[in-house]
Amino acid sequence: MVSVKSNKSKTRCERMTVCNRKGGCGKTSVAINLAASLVKKGFKVLAVDFDPQADLTQTLGQSAPEEYRDLEKTVYDLLMKKDGLLTDFITSSKIPGLDIIPSSDDLQDTPLIESRYVIPTLCLQSRLSHANLDGEYDYLIIDTPPHFPFYVQAALTASDWYIIPVSSGSKFALTGLTKVIKGINQVRMEANPDLRALGILVTLYDGRTNVSRVMEKRLKDTYGEHVFEAVLTRSTVQQKAESRGLAVQDTAKTSNLANDYRALRTEVLTRIKQGGTLLTA
Ligand SMILES: Nc1ncnc2c1ncn2[C@@H]1O[C@H](COP(=O)(O)OP(=O)(O)OP(=O)(O)O)[C@@H](O)[C@H]1O
Ligand SMILES: [Mg+2]
Repeated sequence: MVSVKSNKSKTRCERMTVCNRKGGCGKTSVAINLAASLVKKGFKVLAVDFDPQADLTQTLGQSAPEEYRDLEKTVYDLLMKKDGLLTDFITSSKIPGLDIIPSSDDLQDTPLIESRYVIPTLCLQSRLSHANLDGEYDYLIIDTPPHFPFYVQAALTASDWYIIPVSSGSKFALTGLTKVIKGINQVRMEANPDLRALGILVTLYDGRTNVSRVMEKRLKDTYGEHVFEAVLTRSTVQQKAESRGLAVQDTAKTSNLANDYRALRTEVLTRIKQGGTLLTA
């Protein structure tokens, strides 16, 4: 009798980075709410807080960032410790089914920064490899800081996809976007040729204001299909959710913003299936 080996492959973990060097454009909110929305669909999700500000950790963590730091369970420890398993740095969040790798201000530590981006990049890349994640998680979402460009480069090197949130609330939102896209493409060309865009995402949208309407139009005119159809509405339910350490869908399920996040999830899943896009500046 011939024994047939099972060749059932592990489910691939789709790894995405949320990035834009503009501060306050909604990166962390997108990372949290997209992650939570994917969990709601039954997916297993890991969110990595790769920002020394630790906003994602403060919102979703069961402990404060300093406590994770003292326990040596942050993304900083993941980068600095040569041994140990990825699972040593993963912890559950306030949202059942959503795991996180927390952050704390020790990510600003000088030795790590002085090592420039080569070492953190390689560490993150090997820790968050498909070999470690496939079969364990369906999606990995990395939240990144507005500063520390080498952390953003490291996150992009360890990702398959990226999303760029752009605030429609400021007329300066598009300033520097070309540079951001150029920087991402440099990572793609030099370190991660498979990296693809999921899209540019209009955030903090208030249709009653001229600035939001103009910014959305400008983005669509410039970047066309690279801009998500889904637009995130500006709403106070965002702050309510944040203050309770929850996702918008768990505090205001029927709100416009919860609907926006569901639309974003659908589009993200479709765009991944379609292979994303090559976004150039
Ligand atoms: N849809 C929304 N409606 C209203 N406020 C929002 C919305 N999304 C985000 N915000 C608010 O905007 C601020 C910035 O959001 P967020 O922290 O997600 O941005 P960020 O890009 O991660 O910022 P940073 O660059 O500092 O990391 C927060 O106070 C958040 O509550
Ligand atoms: Mg943030």
